[in-house]
Amino acid sequence: FQVPKPKNEPIKAYREGSEEKKSLKAKLKELKNEQIEIPLIIGGKEVRTGDLGKCVMPHNHSHVLATYHKAGEKEVQMAIDAALKAWKEWSTTPWEHRVAVFLRMAELLSGPYRDILNGATMLNQSKNVFQAEIDSACELTDFYRFNSYYAYQMYTEQPMYSPQGTWNRLEYRPLEGFIFAVTPFNFTSIAGNLPTAPVLMGNVSLWKPASSAVFSAYKLMQLFKEAGLPDGVINFIPGSGGKVGNPVLASEHLAGIHFTGSTATFQHMWRTVGTNISKYKSYPRIVGETGGKDFIFAHASADLDALVAATVRGAFEYQGQKCSAASRMYVPESIWPKFKDMLLDEIKTIKMGDVEDFTNFMNAVIDRAAFETIKGYIDYAKDSSDAEILIGGKCDDSVGYFIEPTVILTTNPHFKTMEEEIFGPVLTIYVYKDNEYEEALELCDNTSPYALTGAVFANDRKAIEIAEKKLTHTAGNFYINDKPTGAVVGQQPFGGGRASGTNDKAGSLLNLLRWVSQRTIKENF
Ligand code: ALA
Repeated sequence: FQVPKPKNEPIKAYREGSEEKKSLKAKLKELKNEQIEIPLIIGGKEVRTGDLGKCVMPHNHSHVLATYHKAGEKEVQMAIDAALKAWKEWSTTPWEHRVAVFLRMAELLSGPYRDILNGATMLNQSKNVFQAEIDSACELTDFYRFNSYYAYQMYTEQPMYSPQGTWNRLEYRPLEGFIFAVTPFNFTSIAGNLPTAPVLMGNVSLWKPASSAVFSAYKLMQLFKEAGLPDGVINFIPGSGGKVGNPVLASEHLAGIHFTGSTATFQHMWRTVGTNISKYKSYPRIVGETGGKDFIFAHASADLDALVAATVRGAFEYQGQKCSAASRMYVPESIWPKFKDMLLDEIKTIKMGDVEDFTNFMNAVIDRAAFETIKGYIDYAKDSSDAEILIGGKCDDSVGYFIEPTVILTTNPHFKTMEEEIFGPVLTIYVYKDNEYEEALELCDNTSPYALTGAVFANDRKAIEIAEKKLTHTAGNFYINDKPTGAVVGQQPFGGGRASGTNDKAGSLLNLLRWVSQRTIKENF
């Protein structure tokens, strides 16, 4: 059994008049009118609690896509029992069979499930067609194919030396217990990767998807089932963080956490694990990716066309709701006037609206809470003498949660919107003196507790070298002359350090190694 090195799933264009566009349009219509009631899935069985939440379309919040049942303490216990039962068989299933399920998931996702997942992501999370395609179709397919390939490498390449008369082995055992996967709204690919990557290595999981993205998460559960994943290997328990999270974290069988979400939630979980530490059978593996305050840093030698394109895409694609989105920028005085004009002209061309109009570049932010938070930052800047709104700033929630692409100029490099994560379409720019390039790089390094992504634009090779060195720990994904978003599986493994997470790069061998406990075996002949 061989798993050849995969290629990335090609991106479809959904051009006007194409069959692929017609097919997706039809699926959008169908999904919009499905009006399903989503159950929990525990041990393969549908469970209903009657405690209901709603999945709405962020760009038209009066349209309810689905309702979903929320888990409580009782269902969490049921899910733990079901997972532990499934563990007995799944943890001893030969790796080739586990990989086969994943390769099948990839085929289904790139084929018959493509429209379903793209459509659900567009409607539920307000992504335009391109953003959905690179997420739920391409990135997730890539996660399944590349993870399968890395697992194959691990299981087939024995790294230990055995002198004559002995047999030394490293055995990759699944962890004893279950993994708790907590996933965000902003990427269906992350939602589809966090509960499954440990499963590929023989583990079982409990999965709490983001409340604002339960609709597309449920479609993933259907995909897993169709691909042949046995009942109980992944248990689907949407619900509130406290009601689900606290009983899960109190279980002695908690073997690991695979998390993407806010820094505050991750720190809360870590503290809770600390409090419960003596209860657990093994020390839980904690893997998490949290926030960012990602930057674009321009040098005077930067190519302005490339810089403008990267700034607009990096800051405003998916309404700035990528953890990798550019939200602070440093520009030297000498290029600022020209760059400013070019940037504002480009932003004026941005179209925003419904996801079903495929020409819209931006759609709505995820929900009311996000809308209010982002608006709060914009209002703060409007009222401050340290800042000026150069473009945008309008927020309208009458139909959907729409926020204009907004650029703030500040004279204070430590202005609130330069330091804090906003998670919306708001970019703050600070203009530095050309002869203070190194000082400005130091400022960039010291301004935020996060270290997820960042980009430097320069044509001067020496300037690139200096930036790479000065910003060694400022970003886990560092881009030179490219935007700080859009990491590709198998090409730029994704993750950051400092307050941004444990940096166990998603979709990499390193990540998979966190989900196994090695046993060293020596046998004498
Ligand atoms: N992996 C996503 C990106 O790089 C978050 O934009």
